[in-house]
Amino acid sequence: MEARKKQFPNPSIPQHVGIIMDGNGRWANFRKMPRTSGHLEGLKAAKRIIRAAVVRNISFLTLYAFSTENWKRSEQEVSFLMGLISTYIKKEYPFYREQNIRILHTGDRSGLPEKVTNVIDEAAAYTASHTGLTVCLAINYGGRNEIVRGMEKAFKLHAIADSAAGSDRHALENSFRNFLDNPDIPDPDLIIRTAGEKRLSNFLLWQSAYSELFFSDKLWPDWKAGDLDNALVDFRNRKRNYGGIDN
Ligand code: FPP
Repeated sequence: MEARKKQFPNPSIPQHVGIIMDGNGRWANFRKMPRTSGHLEGLKAAKRIIRAAVVRNISFLTLYAFSTENWKRSEQEVSFLMGLISTYIKKEYPFYREQNIRILHTGDRSGLPEKVTNVIDEAAAYTASHTGLTVCLAINYGGRNEIVRGMEKAFKLHAIADSAAGSDRHALENSFRNFLDNPDIPDPDLIIRTAGEKRLSNFLLWQSAYSELFFSDKLWPDWKAGDLDNALVDFRNRKRNYGGIDN
């Protein structure tokens, strides 16, 4: 019995955690600092939580770093964020190696500067054989945008019509998944949003159908490993029945 148990991952640990890292701007405002300082602190928090996720045996971590709506911010903030994100991705190779981290991207590549997509592609290629935590960076990401891009891909291949032969909607749902950015990543079990807002803001709309949601009032730059633990304890106490009934 013991031996059998060991063959399976602990079901109380979420396999995939998504995080909406909110509150960088407020963190800086409270300190009368520029918003960019909040993003710098947010980046440090992201690294702390990535490390904590490795130790806690989480397999996939999706971080919402830049949304399709974030372009509405000032030119200065947008270019700071693009620079910060690409510098971070590039300079952390030793960290990925040491922690066995694989980097993936989700989001609309067509709207991103080439130097950012190059940095993402190089990091993905460099870490492709790493077998530990997969960190999926959502950059120029929007859930609706991902679904619409998925529809475009499917229509181009006439794949929807083929797989919809008959009217098996369930098969269609399953095959549509293949047109999303990372079909091989399981849906997030847990989505965390920091800084008090209680909404998904276009994050993983398709994939979040049965995700547990955890909201924290703490601003993202203040997040430490213990905050992730609080979310994991809360998750462990949730009953998940995916629309079925409890026995
Ligand atoms: C939301 O806070 C935060 C962002 C839009 C940027 C998040 C990016 C980082 C933390 C950098 C991490 C990057 C990587 C590659 C891991 P906000 O500015 O909306 O805060 P506010 O709501 O208080 O104004």
